[in-house]
Amino acid sequence: MPKITVVDRAGTAREVDAAKGQSVMEVLRATGFDELQSLCGGCCSCATCHVHVAPEFRDLLPEMSTDEDDLLDSSDHRTECSRLSCQLLIDDSYDGLRVVIAPED
Ligand code: FES
Repeated sequence: MPKITVVDRAGTAREVDAAKGQSVMEVLRATGFDELQSLCGGCCSCATCHVHVAPEFRDLLPEMSTDEDDLLDSSDHRTECSRLSCQLLIDDSYDGLRVVIAPED
């Protein structure tokens, strides 16, 4: 099973199991990262699942949709490593991924 490392807003890193087929958002919620609100439940309409991915993984991730891009534009904390974690579905290529939960807007 792939493993990903998650850094919470306090800066604490923890490695968690990430089941294939789940979104990164679902993994974070299932492993106790409650600061990730995920208000829309993964419908790509809220941007409260915003994370920053490690730069070395940025090009391995699927291209973002126009909706994801527009939602991220509404964040004051957007960087070139920003993604909505509900739009990232775990497969083997995600093993070793590191994500940082973005500050709350
Ligand atoms: S959970 Fe709402 S956009 Fe990801």
